[in-house]
Amino acid sequence: MKKLFTIAQITDLHVGRVIPFPSGKIALYDQLVTAVQSVNNLDPLPDVLVVSGDLANHGNEDDYRKVHALFKTLKMPYYIVVGNHDQRSSLRTIFSEHTYLNTGSEFIQYTVEDLPLRIVVLDTLAVGSHRGLLDTERLDWLDKTLAENREKPTIIFMHHPPFETGMPYPDSLGMDGKEALAEIIEKYHNIEAVVSGHTHREASLRWHGTVAYTTPSSSFSYKLEFHDVDDLDPLMEPPAYRVFRWDPETGLVSHLCFTGKYEYGITEGVPAPPEN
Ligand SMILES: [Fe+2]
Ligand SMILES: [Fe+2]
Repeated sequence: MKKLFTIAQITDLHVGRVIPFPSGKIALYDQLVTAVQSVNNLDPLPDVLVVSGDLANHGNEDDYRKVHALFKTLKMPYYIVVGNHDQRSSLRTIFSEHTYLNTGSEFIQYTVEDLPLRIVVLDTLAVGSHRGLLDTERLDWLDKTLAENREKPTIIFMHHPPFETGMPYPDSLGMDGKEALAEIIEKYHNIEAVVSGHTHREASLRWHGTVAYTTPSSSFSYKLEFHDVDDLDPLMEPPAYRVFRWDPETGLVSHLCFTGKYEYGITEGVPAPPEN
């Protein structure tokens, strides 16, 4: 098995939504097209892509079909995580060749083995709510699953972040069960990262013996607001995704990547350092 390994993560696609901005409407499907092109243009290609929830804004099958068709152009295998905008049954129907979605349980929790990093995926969907939930059944599965392999480096993906970001509005749409999750995570010393989306912003912190991330949406962002607000308005900061590079000598390095074209990048190379 090769040792160097990269995982890309895109999140919060919200296909089906069209957002009116003063400069014009943006169809989030088009944003996903750009993100897929960007991931496909990475060199070397990621070994695997994780799509961490909110694939379709309304969870309807037509939008999932569009995502499914577009994902046929991906040059690497991909894995789906369920988000609060998603419908488990529709995901299972449209992405039917993704047999790992049929877990034998209501919840879409699974592992990906036979890779240099063990991938563990959690289902934080609470039907009818934008808040997330990890209840006893889902947490017991996690504890049992992590106990199966305490040595292999492991990365956990889930839609809702397991930590407070300090932004009152996103935190009000946070996750129940995160304290119990933290108690489980603390028992294991091979968890390289706990990775989520949902907030549509980048954040990271040291968290119960590992590192936790939220990754920005590949479609649209929300403003950084550390004060109370009545609602969140979409903001077009550059859409982004994350790439994790695993090297057993170094560990897990996280790279935030932006999609789209940026015309005013550095064109003159790196300036020479001052001589004195
Ligand atoms: Fe989202
Ligand atoms: Fe979400």
